[in-house]
Amino acid sequence: MKKKWWHDKVAYQIYPKSFYDTNGDGIGDIRGIIEKLDYLEDLGIDILWISPVYLSPFADQGYDIADYYQIDPRFGTMKDMDELIAKAGSRGIRILMDLVVNHCSDEHEWFQKAIADPDGKYGKYFYLEDAKNGLPCNWRSYFGGPCWDALPGTDKIYLHVFHKKQPDLNWENPEVREEIYKNINWWLQKGLGGFRIDAIINIKKALPFKNYAPDREDGLSSINHMLEEAEGIGVFLEEMKHRTFEKYDAFTVGEVFNAKPDELADFIGENGHFSTMFDFRSTCFGSSPKGWYDSLPITPEDYKNCCFESQAEAADIGFYANVIENHDEPRGVSHYLPEGEVNDTSKKMLATISLMLRGIPFIYQGQELGMENMAFSSIDEIDDVNTKNEYKTALDAGLSEEDALKAVSRYSRDNARTPMQWTDGPNAGFTTGKPWLLVNPNHVSINAAAQVKDPASVYTYYKKLIALRKNEDYKQTLVYGKTVPYLKEQKNILSFFRQDEHQTLLVAANFQSKPQSIKLPCSNYRVLLNNCDQIAADHGSVLLEGYQAVILECSAPAPL
Ligand code: GLC
Ligand code: CA
Repeated sequence: MKKKWWHDKVAYQIYPKSFYDTNGDGIGDIRGIIEKLDYLEDLGIDILWISPVYLSPFADQGYDIADYYQIDPRFGTMKDMDELIAKAGSRGIRILMDLVVNHCSDEHEWFQKAIADPDGKYGKYFYLEDAKNGLPCNWRSYFGGPCWDALPGTDKIYLHVFHKKQPDLNWENPEVREEIYKNINWWLQKGLGGFRIDAIINIKKALPFKNYAPDREDGLSSINHMLEEAEGIGVFLEEMKHRTFEKYDAFTVGEVFNAKPDELADFIGENGHFSTMFDFRSTCFGSSPKGWYDSLPITPEDYKNCCFESQAEAADIGFYANVIENHDEPRGVSHYLPEGEVNDTSKKMLATISLMLRGIPFIYQGQELGMENMAFSSIDEIDDVNTKNEYKTALDAGLSEEDALKAVSRYSRDNARTPMQWTDGPNAGFTTGKPWLLVNPNHVSINAAAQVKDPASVYTYYKKLIALRKNEDYKQTLVYGKTVPYLKEQKNILSFFRQDEHQTLLVAANFQSKPQSIKLPCSNYRVLLNNCDQIAADHGSVLLEGYQAVILECSAPAPL
């Protein structure tokens, strides 16, 4: 495999609105990221993905872009952005911007011009149809309701697979693609490390528009059905890569849902469209076509199977980007650990798995502190458009208000969007003003200030995991070595080797609160990391405490 500069890197996602506010308006800003670079450097981060900071009306929190060349004043200025790129760069940290090009905002100049003259040049930037013919297809928007809305003041309708303030750009139009490449290159020339690429699978529509079998009582059909039929996205993605990323040796990470199983090599193989893409197998597990209220919880065994399936799938192809959470997901510790068993030990166990699997780890802000879901007491406390829609779906399905709130609270994107917990003081030290979203009251016990100086904290443990990945003695194996499942059949044991011809490392986790013992594959070993104080080994086995995770270097290599 040809080595690339990003293979051995650890990435961190910043959701700027909730990271750190420096001017007291209750909204995190770019200066806030600059001020926290020491913190990120200390943790050992190499790549920072910044969720959108472009000019935006915030209908979908910045994922609705009104100008790709401007920073939203609530986040700061282009000068701040340049300073961030430079200051991060001087610490060896590369910045990724978020590339949101399936759609723009309805307040973007292109859409405004399309409204003014639907038959002109800019009408062709979007998917417009004559209103008199009715809806061209019955796709349900990701945020609820039909994908079509009236183009204001005209006799046309336009397509939006997300919110109605996020009109889809027409990638079939070469002029649109040129505009996008121009923008990407403009940013890359500023010295970006690359991009995280939003909702990219949606750029290719199965055309002509047609109906699919309705899958809910609303008579609409999930967009997934259309995506299964859409062919030829690779042509767009290769063109984009050649015209932009490739020239700068940029790192790209795709948000790719619904890829076809045999397409993985096209996406992340040696000459794939992207450097990597997120592994969403466990985040998607249990999801229901009916909505969040109908989702199944994930068990430790399910989680193990998800991990091993993804590891096997990518093994000979490339690298997945490993996540336990992001700004669209609940907090990983609240999602994957059984209720009542979320504690520092189990949080460290999850971290061990996520950072030791083969792939490029992405840590979401606050994950390194073990931040947890928020206990929302009313739907009014939630800002997210998607959660509001899922709440309505749950009510429509007959759930009581209380049950609907409970159901959506488990999956709400706002769980991850509550402000970063810096201190135990007012507003968790996030802002001196009124935070745009509620601060989790548990910041009195879960916060960076306390954890940074505590050798036993979740933060310190993350730091050790990152340091281990970078340790010259183990790096080669941890980055490029194989993942070989071990004791896969033993219930609630998630263990695997990371292995190459020089070295065998064993990662073993007991994914339950009850202790259980595992057979050791080697007679001699060295403990590289342990999330508990002790390791109880004897006669070829180890008794793992509840949620204990250990990383061992086996002296006698186990069979490959
Ligand atoms: C991606 C983003 C999500 C956003 C959507 C539409 O899934 O991660 O936050 O709502 O795209 O841009
Ligand atoms: Ca601010």
